[in-house]
Amino acid sequence: MTDDILQLYPTGASPAALTDDQLLTLYAPASRGERLVRANFVSSIDGSATASGLSGGLGGPADKRVFDLLRRLADVVLVGAGTVRSEGYGAMRLAPDAAAWRVANGHPEHPVFALVSGRLDLDPASDVFAKAPVRPLVLTVSSAPAAARASLAAVADVVDCGSSTLDIPTMLDTLTSRGLRQIHCEGGPSLLGSLLAADALDSLCLTTSPALEGGAGPRITHAGGALPLRPMRLDHLLLSGSMLLSQYSRAH
Ligand SMILES: NC(=O)c1ccc[n+]([C@@H]2O[C@H](COP(=O)([O-])OP(=O)(O)OC[C@H]3O[C@@H](n4cnc5c(N)ncnc54)[C@H](OP(=O)(O)O)[C@@H]3O)[C@@H](O)[C@H]2O)c1
Repeated sequence: MTDDILQLYPTGASPAALTDDQLLTLYAPASRGERLVRANFVSSIDGSATASGLSGGLGGPADKRVFDLLRRLADVVLVGAGTVRSEGYGAMRLAPDAAAWRVANGHPEHPVFALVSGRLDLDPASDVFAKAPVRPLVLTVSSAPAAARASLAAVADVVDCGSSTLDIPTMLDTLTSRGLRQIHCEGGPSLLGSLLAADALDSLCLTTSPALEGGAGPRITHAGGALPLRPMRLDHLLLSGSMLLSQYSRAH
């Protein structure tokens, strides 16, 4: 499988494969000073967010390339605890070339890793915390278990964003008040559902994997109920082999 990426839309681009710099320009936020809540997901053609329970089987080299480049543009990488647990996340440490790119472009070497959890069922001894180059954030609720909170507080900033349920606007304001405006969500479906329910998602990067899952895999969003339809507009559409990589933004 190739990681060459061609631009299909907007039309008129060079037919040559895009360089990393060109991809970074394409995905760059319109304004770094304004808050942008962007998510990045992969889906099968038939709408599954997983293959055999994980997203990894749906990806490929081009998807991984964009996944990594999007981290370069983030102030904070926001991930739900379910994804951290199931996908076996490690520390939010970017590769040396990505860290060097960030510094050259005026950003800290690594984005902040923010984990969203109500139950705080997270291991403070795991690499997520033990090997973190930047002290992670744990975004939770004041009713979270006290013992787990105390353990995590030794290795992360634990911040309440609600009492019994997490309030998404409060969570986003918490990040913004720390100067974290480029908010990049890597999953999972429950967290994306919460962002949608709060009408807080500005932009969605979606890779459509050229595969049919055919089973009971979840969709990329799970909000627990019907939401008003959100019109989105296509920003760009890229092609790598048979894989489509798109970005949609909120249609005003
Ligand atoms: N296709 C893709 O691009 C993609 C991306 C990411 C994940 N996935 C897949 O999605 C699956 C996991 O799905 P998931 O829905 O469980 O993922 P998730 O949203 O990452 O995790 C759900 C958990 O995160 C916490 N959480 C999320 N939203 C919250 C909120 N509003 N308030 C409080 N806590 C919140 C809770 O943690 P606590 O339980 O600790 O309270 C909740 O149980 C895995 O199979 C993973 O491989 C796919």
